[in-house]
Amino acid sequence: MKNIENSIKVWDPIVRIGHWTLVITFFTAYFTEDEFITTHVWAGYVLSVVVCFRLLWGFVGTPYARFADFVRSPSVTFGYLADLAHKRSQRYLGHNPAGGAMIVVLLLFLLGTAFSGIMLYALEDGAGPLAAWVAENAERHELWEEIHEVLANLTLMLVAIHVAGVLFSTYAYRENLVKAMITGRKKANSE
Ligand code: HEM
Repeated sequence: MKNIENSIKVWDPIVRIGHWTLVITFFTAYFTEDEFITTHVWAGYVLSVVVCFRLLWGFVGTPYARFADFVRSPSVTFGYLADLAHKRSQRYLGHNPAGGAMIVVLLLFLLGTAFSGIMLYALEDGAGPLAAWVAENAERHELWEEIHEVLANLTLMLVAIHVAGVLFSTYAYRENLVKAMITGRKKANSE
């Protein structure tokens, strides 16, 4: 059994609770859009709050949660991917450069999907936080419905790539990253 002294705390509770809340709310919203609009809308609201808070936490949070820790230049990111393909990539205690890039893209797509949903709710039903500023309008409603659907499906695709990346890293570094996102702890030293 691995000794706890051999591991180090990497993910704080806000990162972990935020992550699993995103997983639950994203899939809840995705699969309730047709028949359970109230559930869909509330899952979207909770997801929006989590994403906004995570963006803020990226500037003021614990060291490994900060964007400064895991957002790298395109050359570092592509260099990392090339190293990964040649099985000589360096292990990162926080997010690796490719994972970090995906996280930023995911957060932005989640934000765009949520915003387009809130716009659509105002245009279609005259409801939601933007209803006071955006009047009901059948034509614009169709356009925003399209935008919302396309963004939601692109986000689902990104999630699939994200999960594939997590599973691949788990295999490449022989380290259970899903467990680390639950406990917050990772192996202290690479071997
Ligand atoms: C069930 C499927 C999922 C699994 C197993 C999973 C697993 C993980 C793991 C292990 C990490 C940490 C990666 C690392 O060690 O660098 C991570 C990070 C992340 N994942 Fe997922 N993920 C899943 C679904 C999702 C979904 C659906 C979203 C968005 C809707 C998402 C958004 C994120 C974000 C934003 C981070 C960065 C965490 C942070 O720094 O706050 N994940 N995920």
